[in-house]
Amino acid sequence: MLKATLSLDPEFKISTVDRRMYGSFIEHLGRAVYDGIYCPGHPASNARGFRTDVIDLIKPLQIPLIRYPGGNFVSGFRWEDSVGPAKERPVRLDRAWRTVETNQVGIDEFSSWCRELGAEVMMAVNLGTRGIDDACNLLEYCNHESGSYYSDLRRAHGAEQPYRIKTWCLGNEMDGPWQIGHKTADEYGRLALETARAMKKIDSEIQLVATGSSYPEMPTFPTWEATVLDYLYDDVDYLSLHQYLGDTTNNLEDYLAKSLTTEHFIHSVVSTCDYVKAKKRSGKKLMLSFDEWNIWYHSLGSDDERIAKEPWGIAPPLLEDIYTMADAAVFGTMLITLLNHADRVKIACLAQLVNVIAPIMTEPNGGKTWLQTIYWPFYHAAQYGHGTVLRTAVSCPKYDSPNFTDVPYLESTVLLDEEQGVLTVFAVNRSLNDSLVLSADLAAFEGCSLIEHVTMYSGDPNVTNGPDKQGVSPVRVAESGVTDNHLSAVLPPLSWNVVRIQFKR
Ligand code: AHR
Repeated sequence: MLKATLSLDPEFKISTVDRRMYGSFIEHLGRAVYDGIYCPGHPASNARGFRTDVIDLIKPLQIPLIRYPGGNFVSGFRWEDSVGPAKERPVRLDRAWRTVETNQVGIDEFSSWCRELGAEVMMAVNLGTRGIDDACNLLEYCNHESGSYYSDLRRAHGAEQPYRIKTWCLGNEMDGPWQIGHKTADEYGRLALETARAMKKIDSEIQLVATGSSYPEMPTFPTWEATVLDYLYDDVDYLSLHQYLGDTTNNLEDYLAKSLTTEHFIHSVVSTCDYVKAKKRSGKKLMLSFDEWNIWYHSLGSDDERIAKEPWGIAPPLLEDIYTMADAAVFGTMLITLLNHADRVKIACLAQLVNVIAPIMTEPNGGKTWLQTIYWPFYHAAQYGHGTVLRTAVSCPKYDSPNFTDVPYLESTVLLDEEQGVLTVFAVNRSLNDSLVLSADLAAFEGCSLIEHVTMYSGDPNVTNGPDKQGVSPVRVAESGVTDNHLSAVLPPLSWNVVRIQFKR
């Protein structure tokens, strides 16, 4: 049995959590849109062709904002193709994923779908093949009231009220050679700056996200950030980060340590932002939008082979990773790391939401829905991850793995919800063999009692869920408790945990 101690004080605060920390992402990719959220003729679909059974699984996640329409897809996207009478919309080749885009779902349909979910759209503009004019036209279409060509076009398409989309991404992963219209940092910086200024002239209320590096191992990281921000620091509101983790070396202990790279990535990006701030003698602190994060490795090679053999399919299955218990634990450590940086990470988008590296799956050709292992940590965070993240001191045993040293067995974050009088601990036990007893002195809080300790674990790190099996799902832990304002919680080996404590306000 391992032992860990958590020291906490309500006065030691990192930041309140922005609701947009629990954002997500839908790209025109694989079966995310077609055969995922949109499936006309399916018995569960509504009059507009959207699957209500999928909506029912998304709703409990209370997603505040959804990034759209890409991803790599956006860098070749002609937004005008996706509006107007559906029958008249052109069918296009999507060069990003080498599939066929029918344009049956576009901005109007997606906006109404998001409205039903109570989520904002976070729109990305194409800075790959297009530029200032098209970004401005799209903004005019979405946000301008009326009396101009594009706003009146929207009204003619049935949307009298503007969508008032607040958050806009200036392109996607423009540092990546795989990106359509890939650019150098200087090329991107100039184009994004002029686009930002033009867009803010149309709508000064919007918030803009500059494109950061596609992942921390990019050879251009962090020079990309420093150069791009030299152009954009004063004109944007956020800088983006993307990262996917995976068991690429086939070593579980190594894989379980990988959120330490997320931690390091955030530190480096914050330092780079603050370096540019100092250089510019600016009073503004730039915030981060971690707008693609998840686990992605199961489907990597096979997808490339499939698309090479059979390109130009309509909504073929792509990036359909099936997640294990180990993946859910690593996912949990990533989520915890994001929360522990709530002072700078204001937006985060789980990439993606349905079928494509997703917590929610639908069986092909309109089959049934099911929930992946990673659904649960995200669900718990969305349900209980509110209030203020506390700065805690953790004392716990550590291990070394082939590529990491001093990896703490415990990864944790603590949230204080003063309104509800609730302390919430999210924790992952990285040990493959040992339970971990987590102790915390709660003397700073009055009248503490345990609401519940929920855990997700399995003796088999490779267990998965599926359409007909629930390999792993959350269960209550009976051995944990709070006595005399002292928490003692037993975290099973390789587990995701939620411990909720009530205190007197
Ligand atoms: O989310 C899948 C892909 O990952 C996105 O299209 C791209 O932005 C990233 O490389």
